[in-house]
Amino acid sequence: MISRNTIDRVFEAARVEEVIGEFVQLKKAGSNFKGLSPFSDEKSPSFMVSPVKQIWKDFSTGKGGNAISFLMEHEHYSYPEAIRFLAKKYNIEIEETEQTDEQKEKASERESLYLVSEFARDYYHDILLNHPKGKAIGLSYFKERGFTDETIKKFELGYGLDDWSAFTDEALKKGYELDFLEKTGLTIVNETRKFDRFKSRVLFPIHSMSGRILGFGGRTLSTEKKIAKYLNSPESDIYHKSKILYGIYHAKQSIAKEDNCFLVEGYTDVISFHQNGVANVVASSGTALTSDQIRLVSRLTQNITILFDGDAAGIRASLRGIDLILEQGMNVKVLMFPDGDDPDSFSKRVSTDELKDYLAKNAQDFINFKVSLLMEEAKNDPIKKAGLIRDIVVSISKIPDRIQKEVYIQECARIMQISEAVLFSELAQIFKKTQREASKSSTQARPTAPVLEKTSQLEKVNELEKYEREIIKILLLYGNKSTDFIDVSDETIDAKKKEFYTNLVAKEIYLELQEDEMEFSNELFRKVYYNIINQLNQEENISIDAFINHQNVEIATLVTNILMDDEKYALSDWKRRDIFVKDVELEIPKMVTDTIFNLRRILIDQKISSLSKDIKIEDNNDTILSEIIDYTNLKKKLFTQLNRVI
Ligand code: CTP
Ligand code: MN
Repeated sequence: MISRNTIDRVFEAARVEEVIGEFVQLKKAGSNFKGLSPFSDEKSPSFMVSPVKQIWKDFSTGKGGNAISFLMEHEHYSYPEAIRFLAKKYNIEIEETEQTDEQKEKASERESLYLVSEFARDYYHDILLNHPKGKAIGLSYFKERGFTDETIKKFELGYGLDDWSAFTDEALKKGYELDFLEKTGLTIVNETRKFDRFKSRVLFPIHSMSGRILGFGGRTLSTEKKIAKYLNSPESDIYHKSKILYGIYHAKQSIAKEDNCFLVEGYTDVISFHQNGVANVVASSGTALTSDQIRLVSRLTQNITILFDGDAAGIRASLRGIDLILEQGMNVKVLMFPDGDDPDSFSKRVSTDELKDYLAKNAQDFINFKVSLLMEEAKNDPIKKAGLIRDIVVSISKIPDRIQKEVYIQECARIMQISEAVLFSELAQIFKKTQREASKSSTQARPTAPVLEKTSQLEKVNELEKYEREIIKILLLYGNKSTDFIDVSDETIDAKKKEFYTNLVAKEIYLELQEDEMEFSNELFRKVYYNIINQLNQEENISIDAFINHQNVEIATLVTNILMDDEKYALSDWKRRDIFVKDVELEIPKMVTDTIFNLRRILIDQKISSLSKDIKIEDNNDTILSEIIDYTNLKKKLFTQLNRVI
């Protein structure tokens, strides 16, 4: 683990405008910077960086945070990866905290595996570019396939010499341990000798999401049938074939930006697409897609387009895997290339515009695709057709979204020329079956509430959350301020004579909420609230920085969003901010009272309505009724108090 001390030093050194400036072109706009959102394609800037607050906010997508969260969003780093990136940028030495011996060993072993893999990448890449045989054989092969120097460098392609142990010898000479060479599979060790796995093959390094080397794919240049075309790194502590997609590192930004991911089969398909200007592409490396791989993509987009070769024998086999994607709520499209073409060969034949045009025009919705494909075979066979209908409905049942499901049912009914009713009843049966299976494990399946009641309850929750968020906002912006509040506690005082008392805004809120033992319904707000109260108790002061830089990204994002609420106006260059700020100061006591009043009102209403539900015709309801009366009186009192304040 990175030490707290290092993390603090990184936070001190990092300037949000400098970090983001590396990725986004920023222009000064008043006290802020603005630029085009890196998360969407836009023409007018809605991305804002505040050097004063040290935060950023993207108004087009609603994302926001500090320097760390920018790196996590934009580069898809994990928290420690982002810290390491910044430490490097600002020349801060990383201090690790104490680990157990076992942890240390595990971590250092994994690190060693990465290090030998990175050495291997550099070694093989160097051979390809500089060794006479590497140039004559490996480089000229790639050149023949049309890969440019730029492409070869970008993907760090390599070549292994036709020599039993050229690589292993060099690695050992450089001090890398045989144990790690063997564990990564780069070296094969048997009783009598050790030799290179990737002898006389061109190499495709496989990168992790953050760009580290996990393993290699090696293609033979021989046309001999007995030799496997590809030889890949074996599974290791760092390489799990089913958890990675080839090309994800080079594609991640483009996938997020285009909001779509093309899925191809081979290394060369990925590379050719890149060279022809389509960068949002990854390869499953010739195997069936796994749910881990889908999750990898779903961090970046909800849309996948699967590309099939023109003569795809594998299409039917991969249909099942596609259900996996639907299950995760992602949208799947399918695209076929002309007969005899694969993505690699097709993209080499056409210009960038033609390629993009083809991809845009020929992507077909998956369900429609599956129906048309299977209908071909089942056309004249009623039994097959019945099986097909069930098969399609199973696919549709995987889609979590209800409306989408319905649209598909209608579409399928049209294509298959059967009634929607049949499909709906099939869907209902599948649903019942899965329900039954699910309720076997959980004993009591609760009946679903009528839709109407559900929505109105949902709205109440949202109204509650609105005021909870408002409380957090007031605490963050004005919690440290002292101001005058009107005393409403003494009912004997004449309503027209107002009594004032002075209090810290945060303390006032705390006392008011405590009086009613009010709890936040939203978990995140509750967390932030108690964090604020703790700070207040310990330091008599609320420090916003601690929240912006909070290790919990959710908290940091919430606080940033709240702080940037008002900055939206600055984007349209409104010059009213000074006036605005002055007004707000005067409004603080009213804001506090209003918000607390509304929270109380909603909570009382909730109590009353839940009590009313308990009333049963045949029972004696005296206690419930008297409670309802108490709450109604409380509500009246609340309104009277509010009147005295206004
Ligand atoms: N593959 C593999 N082992 C093999 C054959 C294929 O791991 N023996 C994987 C590789 O990841 C390969 C992908 O399946 O990239 C697709 O296979 P294929 O289309 O045969 O290879 P291409 O990458 O298209 O190679 P090329 O264009 O050079 O034939
Ligand atoms: Mn190919």
